[in-house]
Amino acid sequence: MGGSNPYIQSAEIILPKTKYNIRFEPEDPSAGEAITVEVDPEKIPYHETGLPGSILNIALGLGIDIDHSCGGVCACSTCHVFVKQGMETCNEATDDELDQLEEARGLTMQSRLSCQTVPNGSTDVRVVIPAWNVNLVKETH
Ligand code: FES
Repeated sequence: MGGSNPYIQSAEIILPKTKYNIRFEPEDPSAGEAITVEVDPEKIPYHETGLPGSILNIALGLGIDIDHSCGGVCACSTCHVFVKQGMETCNEATDDELDQLEEARGLTMQSRLSCQTVPNGSTDVRVVIPAWNVNLVKETH
């Protein structure tokens, strides 16, 4: 499933203009290795799921599996991640995202829904995938 949710307010997004890196780390080190990917603005959208250029959109397009039960339309909390570095370069969470996040386990100040979080590329970003996200980090290519 993909697309957008017509019932939610749109996030105000600035897409990157230059290449930047996202490092994906599993919270549980036994779940896999950290992976750093280069994001190329010319390749956005990377996938049909999540906001174009969102952390989930990029992850799925590059073979990094983050759970996304609602198909990336801000209607669940399974794509919850911790943005440990670069949060200031991301769009602000909408009220709809914050409402969904309240349902997420292990909420922290760095919690975001990865399908709704779009970095602007002005710095590199570090993302930790919670240990309870069943799919965790897998590199398929
Ligand atoms: S995949 Fe459901 S809110 Fe992100």
